[in-house]
Amino acid sequence: MDYKVADLSLADFGRREIRLAEHEMPGLMATRKEYADSQPLRGAKIMGSLHMTIQTAVLIETLVDLGADVRWVSCNIFSTQDHAAAAVVVGRDGTVEDPKGVPVFAWKGETLEEYWWCTDQALRWPDGSFPNMILDDGGDATLLVHKGAEYEAAGAVPSASEDDPEEWKIILDTLRRTIADAPGRWTETAASVKGVTEETTTGVHRLYEMAKAGTLKFPAINVNDSVTKSKFDNKYGCRHSVLDGLNRATDVLIGGKVAVICGYGDVGKGCAEALKGQGARVIVTEIDPICALQAAMDGFQVAVLEDVVGIADIFVTTTGNKDIIRADHMAQMKHQAIVSNIGHFDNEIDMAGLARTPGIEKIEIKPQVHEWRFADGHSIIVLAEGRLMNLGCATGHPSFVMSNSFTNQVIAQIELFAKTEEYPVGVYVLPKHLDEKVARLHLDALGVKLTTLSKEQADYIGVDVEGPYKPEHYRY
Ligand code: NAI
Repeated sequence: MDYKVADLSLADFGRREIRLAEHEMPGLMATRKEYADSQPLRGAKIMGSLHMTIQTAVLIETLVDLGADVRWVSCNIFSTQDHAAAAVVVGRDGTVEDPKGVPVFAWKGETLEEYWWCTDQALRWPDGSFPNMILDDGGDATLLVHKGAEYEAAGAVPSASEDDPEEWKIILDTLRRTIADAPGRWTETAASVKGVTEETTTGVHRLYEMAKAGTLKFPAINVNDSVTKSKFDNKYGCRHSVLDGLNRATDVLIGGKVAVICGYGDVGKGCAEALKGQGARVIVTEIDPICALQAAMDGFQVAVLEDVVGIADIFVTTTGNKDIIRADHMAQMKHQAIVSNIGHFDNEIDMAGLARTPGIEKIEIKPQVHEWRFADGHSIIVLAEGRLMNLGCATGHPSFVMSNSFTNQVIAQIELFAKTEEYPVGVYVLPKHLDEKVARLHLDALGVKLTTLSKEQADYIGVDVEGPYKPEHYRY
């Protein structure tokens, strides 16, 4: 079996944590049981690009239990939990000497070159074939396939320009190399992929852009916008893991501090609540009047960053947008202000601009925690090099909330793989009855007793006794 992880001897530790996680992931375990006999993913060759954590290990083994042949990478250079990666490679029946699990190409602290090498490895099978399904988080695997096919059709990979971001140059190099190795490979992959299921807001944004431009090459299910994903993982998951990231990175006392949360969408709402719960005075920045009004109604001061940049102790960007905290902002911050991002990509914070600041010095406190000292002697602390801090500095969201997200992922994979003809190229969300099913699978574990509608009540509000209970336009 081909694979590349940090250290296979961590597999036992990984397996012990996977065992605990399984108990906390009732949705995935129920899905395993439901589909044990029918094996709806038999014949599926799934390439997954999603943070290689303990929770993801439970997802991977669920896909395998449903019949899939799986290869995996992390979707971030810092988010892999090496013991989880090792356990998945060794598998449930293998040993360190004779691994029998799933090929994983991921370790914590990859370079960007290694990251794209890993993505390429997971997108081809040792027999020379390619995946027929993609499970993506942030859209990097989908991007590589689309750009590869596009440049193959054009006959050449374009040269990067001087001003292009470093990562884009690496992507172009990866495509040049892989096309030279196997000409036509990306066109074939794009044709063989039946569909992609996308985990996060940023990846979904890319998919809708491609669909709008008419460049999307296979159908996609937007898992993020299942209610049981974005209203739980993005909000309650971040409410938990933003603090975990701050604590493990700095252990600074949050109570009494001034914290700025940039963006008050699902992730921002979770982060603001968490910091408020710790006793911080939270200030929100927003561009959307609706979200700004929500923040105000929830009791937060809403300000522009320029007005508060000099008084805050902790900054968290949650926008999925770029250039939120610029180098000139960071230069004005208080001594030892903490700067972090929990959105998908690292361009929310201008790290390149910070590095170009005259006289700046970067001091590693420990991996993924850096002090940047300005020429005047004051410094700031940047978490995870500006990449998502909850996975870079801590272990991401806990199992229970990820069970909701990943049960949606499994259902979406089954939909696209088993009912391909029902999904022409386009971007879809799962039907509401499946969303409600995911929620239902998680009620018992929390001791929730659901009220059952009477037939008369159901008729009165115009729904079926079994649901769905809300119209499509309902916002939760
Ligand atoms: P969202 O769209 O619900 O929220 C983003 C908010 O940022 C919006 O309300 C928007 O108006 C605001 N915004 C945009 N530009 C802004 C600016 N210049 N200044 C202030 N506010 C601005 O998106 P969601 O679901 O909250 O996701 C945000 C990011 O977090 C995405 O990149 C997503 O992929 C990522 N994410 C990260 C997770 C993690 O574990 N680290 C988990 C889930 C999502």
